[in-house]
Amino acid sequence: MSKSGSRTSTAVLISGSGTNLQAFIDATRSGELDLDLRVVLSNKRVAAGLARARSAGIRTECVEHRDYPDRERFDAALIAVLDRFEPDLIILAGFMRILTPVFIDHYAGRIFNIHPSLLPRYPGLDTHQRAIDAGDAWHGSTVHFATEELDGGPRVIQGRVPVMPDDTAESLAGRVLEIEHQIYPRAAALYASGRLRYRDGAAWLDDQKLEEPLQFDGKNVRSRDQ
Ligand code: GRF
Repeated sequence: MSKSGSRTSTAVLISGSGTNLQAFIDATRSGELDLDLRVVLSNKRVAAGLARARSAGIRTECVEHRDYPDRERFDAALIAVLDRFEPDLIILAGFMRILTPVFIDHYAGRIFNIHPSLLPRYPGLDTHQRAIDAGDAWHGSTVHFATEELDGGPRVIQGRVPVMPDDTAESLAGRVLEIEHQIYPRAAALYASGRLRYRDGAAWLDDQKLEEPLQFDGKNVRSRDQ
């Protein structure tokens, strides 16, 4: 719920295929998730996710990063567009731009990101190949609050998948993506219900500091010690 008691107004930022966006669309349609998906914004004019948004009847916007000389001016343009929709929550769903501290501060504690690794392992790119190369038994994805530290904000939910002996980066990425579609709407649902918040540099669930991210067991999310 937003401060006014209405549904959580949400902006989803994408750069590409938007399968996570689709998971949000499906979960709000089915009633599992009570979000007001007000706008989908892309930094690329050609992003398959924009078509998903349009066919779901969600307003779309494009702010091409190439049209701006630097990150600061690009982020100022993003803020100007997003603020028109008065978002309570910003969901980064495959948004492939690094955001400046000005953007992060503007929406402080109200930005989620999803990163395809079991953070703090493998921030940055090529996470699937790095997990394979390291011989990891498990890989997965993490939803976290976005802060100024790239892929470094407080973790909220993780979902894991086993790394198979014959996995390629592509096969592993496919299984991780399926888990992402489960955990990301669940994190947003916790936020929308008011149970999950960002405070003092940490994630809090039911007013308890989350020292470790919640774990998705294939059906539910639970804390590690449960
Ligand atoms: C996901 O793997 C996500 O973890 C990463 O970008 C990818 C987005 O995929 N941040 P999609 O556009 O939602 O299909």
